[in-house]
Amino acid sequence: MSTPQNSIFVEGTRAQYVLEYSLADGVDPQPAAASLAQLAQQTGPAEMVVAFGPALWSRLNMGPSASDLRDFKPIGEGDHAAPASQRDVLVWIHGAEHDDCFDRALAVEDALSGVASAELDLRGFVYHDSRDLTGFIDGSANPKDDARLDAAVDPETGGSVVFTQRWVHDLDKFNTLAVPEQERVIGRTKADSIELEGDAMPADSHVSRTDISGTKIYRRSFPYGSVGEKGLYFLAFGRDMERFEVLLRHMFGVTDDGIHDRLIEFSKPVTGGYWFAPSAKVLKALAAG
Ligand code: HEM
Repeated sequence: MSTPQNSIFVEGTRAQYVLEYSLADGVDPQPAAASLAQLAQQTGPAEMVVAFGPALWSRLNMGPSASDLRDFKPIGEGDHAAPASQRDVLVWIHGAEHDDCFDRALAVEDALSGVASAELDLRGFVYHDSRDLTGFIDGSANPKDDARLDAAVDPETGGSVVFTQRWVHDLDKFNTLAVPEQERVIGRTKADSIELEGDAMPADSHVSRTDISGTKIYRRSFPYGSVGEKGLYFLAFGRDMERFEVLLRHMFGVTDDGIHDRLIEFSKPVTGGYWFAPSAKVLKALAAG
């Protein structure tokens, strides 16, 4: 198998930074994409993952992405909808320290200046013992060790489909629920993340809607925000796009049972995009120009 970008799998980094860029009209993206790929070759105190929107990836002509990759389209209706905001370049930087992440973010901005503009520029963090801001541990059922590669990487190309969504939480609303009710929203206990079982597990809990066979993904989401707006930047890697579509249809009630994930009554996605993270080898070839 062609090796994926190693930084996807480096865990335990507490400082997080993400940039989403849209390409300007009428520019040649090749030189800027090469500079970006060169930056990603540099090993430093912070990790960097680079991915491209479907249209830009085919324009760069660097080989296949996942065969089913396309722009993210909105899913669901009304209050239970996920909007699309497909952009062209995704850069995820993570490390031990925010200043190191910031240095790399500035270098990315330099590389893309005049060619693409940052539509999303978001600094995040690990909250206590890897909790979402709702107070629940996020990542318990994530695949571990080699199962991560199996979930996240297409063995043909060594690349991954990446799905991102910025969610905005209504924590005031969530926190009016007593803890046992919050646990029924998530489907796990709050203190120690034990999955609810049997009759105790509601059909509309987040775990009930996302624990679906054949849809394993590798999640690297992180909290962000201020005392005002705050939420989760959902970031996950999959070997194909279909598994994300299945998960999203279950969350947003686009299924025969019509059940939506109760979590979306307490948090709303405000962006959504699919990306292709090419293998380390293809990224190196892109860097060489
Ligand atoms: C506000 C947004 C979200 C929050 C706060 C959130 C939080 C959580 C939490 C607390 C868990 C249980 C612990 C764990 O296994 O990690 C979980 C599980 C999971 N989530 Fe989310 N999540 C969000 C959005 C999403 C989205 C958009 C997807 C998929 C597109 C997703 C897919 C999953 C999957 C696959 C699991 C594991 C289910 C299992 O196998 O048990 N989540 N999430």
